[in-house]
Amino acid sequence: MAVLDIKKYPSPVLKKKAAPVSVFDEALQQLIEDMVETMYAAPGVGLAAPQVGISKRLAVIDISSRDEKYPLIVLINPSIVKSEGEIEFEEGCLSIPEYTAKVKRSENLIVRAHDRAGTEVEIEAGGLLAIALQHEIDHLDGLLLIDRISPIKREFFKKRYRKALKTEK
Ligand code: NI
Repeated sequence: MAVLDIKKYPSPVLKKKAAPVSVFDEALQQLIEDMVETMYAAPGVGLAAPQVGISKRLAVIDISSRDEKYPLIVLINPSIVKSEGEIEFEEGCLSIPEYTAKVKRSENLIVRAHDRAGTEVEIEAGGLLAIALQHEIDHLDGLLLIDRISPIKREFFKKRYRKALKTEK
């Protein structure tokens, strides 16, 4: 297993729509293991493949640190088949360090996906898990949490972040 390098905003791979996973082979299992290790090392509650530079529809989620009844979820080729309600939560992202913003999401979801063996599964989720699922599925569509905030807040973020990037150099 290996801890992978996490791509940070504004890395172009984060803006790309990721391609479906079609082969469930040994290499995919290895990538999943590495992504899980990378997520725990960060530490984070979710990590999508584009965040480690791989434009595939794969993500891992573990919110057990916030709510221990949830196990590790390996999410492959997910699609939201039903959503309802609204919930607002202060979200962060490993690709945008030291930034959080309130994002509005659906409160309840049904997601269809493949598990790591390629079997189709249906996940019913509410609250924190529903938020995490939507955040990670957004990553697979090239969207970041800053694409989900108001244009004024986004402009403010970009100005501040550009300034921070310049100071780093
Ligand atoms: Ni994220």
